[in-house]
Amino acid sequence: MEIVNEVNLTIWSKSSNESYARVAVSSFFTQLDPTVDEITDIKTAVSEAVTNCIVHAYRNTVGKIYITARITADRYAYIKIRDKGCGISDVKQAMEPMFTTAPDEERAGLGFAVMQTFMDKVKVTSAPGKGTTIVMTKKIRPRRNNG
Ligand SMILES: Nc1ncnc2c1ncn2[C@@H]1O[C@H](COP(=O)(O)OP(=O)(O)OP(=O)(O)O)[C@@H](O)[C@H]1O
Ligand SMILES: [Mg+2]
Repeated sequence: MEIVNEVNLTIWSKSSNESYARVAVSSFFTQLDPTVDEITDIKTAVSEAVTNCIVHAYRNTVGKIYITARITADRYAYIKIRDKGCGISDVKQAMEPMFTTAPDEERAGLGFAVMQTFMDKVKVTSAPGKGTTIVMTKKIRPRRNNG
């Protein structure tokens, strides 16, 4: 689909940058005139994906997280979040609700489930030792201005 706008952000995997990424990405999509609920959904999904890069991909280290946010002509919010961290050996298993490799750190294993709940589509590709890419999309429907 035709891309009508795009921003790219590169952030360090520090927990202090998680709220920045969440707000920066969601505010980019305000030009689609989303509802408060739609923006909240996007914020929540971005927060989970970025947190995973911080706590899993770059565990005990700091690396770069590459974020692309795009708007398509048919009003899709497209978000790509990529890291060059440890990667995931079994993506299918990692995406199962309540699967976590960090139970001692009070992780619930629900991050991917949350992303899937709040976005229309979530695609994960990963290579152990090379990194992980998450692509998420959500259609933002036009709405009547009832103001
Ligand atoms: N970017 C990533 N790099 C490497 N491993 C990842 C990445 N994202 C997720 N994982 C792996 O997938 C598992 C499941 O991720 P998910 O976000 O669903 O749960 P969690 O992060 O363990 O817990 P929660 O998100 O509920 O705090 C993680 O425990 C981790 O092993
Ligand atoms: Mg998580």
